Amino acid sequence: MDWYDSIWLRRYFDAKKMIAQVAPTRLSEFEHAMSAFRTDDAFQVKYVSGFLDAKALQDIRETIAAIPRDAMELHELQKFGRLIVHDWPAFTAMQATMVDFVSELAGERVEPCYNFLSLYSRRGVCEPHLDTPSAKWTFDLCVDQSDPWPISFSSIIPWPEDREELIEDWRAVCEKRSPHEIRSLALEPGDALLFSGASQWHYRDPIPADGRKAFCDLLFFHFIPEGTAEIVQPRNWARLFDIPELDTIPNISLPA
Ligand SMILES: [Fe+2]
Repeated sequence: MDWYDSIWLRRYFDAKKMIAQVAPTRLSEFEHAMSAFRTDDAFQVKYVSGFLDAKALQDIRETIAAIPRDAMELHELQKFGRLIVHDWPAFTAMQATMVDFVSELAGERVEPCYNFLSLYSRRGVCEPHLDTPSAKWTFDLCVDQSDPWPISFSSIIPWPEDREELIEDWRAVCEKRSPHEIRSLALEPGDALLFSGASQWHYRDPIPADGRKAFCDLLFFHFIPEGTAEIVQPRNWARLFDIPELDTIPNISLPA
């Protein structure tokens, strides 16, 4: 099994280790700041039936059909069986209108972070993973599909304490022996759901194909707690906490 994702958490572990060495009295301040990205364990996935009416859905389908092929990113074709388009202007504009609604569902004030369109093909699959807190909240909207394709979630988990614990927790989900409660939901076109991908393992098993041309077009709108756009990026931690050693952590400058 390949280890997948949770890059942010690994940098968080490295940062905690570094701070414990070079500025131990600052550790609780750092952990407190990062707790903005943890999720209340009482949170339950919110299913929004009929988020879009037929006309709005048709408009989105037309927007998608008009996206030039060369704007589509191919780098996830192999691993996920999908084409993706990040931050398409029409979807970014749509996301801006959703802030109050998503804040209400999330139970905290949020702001938009990024979004992407995901056009899954008959090879569609999404292995169990946790998202970076840039996607603390994901509003997942189904635009079109050949058949309902369930997404599975764990309950809200406390973040593992270190990398070993993280990997063990992930393996348990992959091997269907997780102590966390796992729940599956299937969207219909126009329906959406809000989950907290930074604190819920989530995955989609291979798309049901049945020899037909299977597909699933989904929009993912990611939101972060209001006011956290800077601190969510590990590359900003050295500056924001005035601990220059944090810049020496490998790959800290890459977007998480
Ligand atoms: Fe995810």
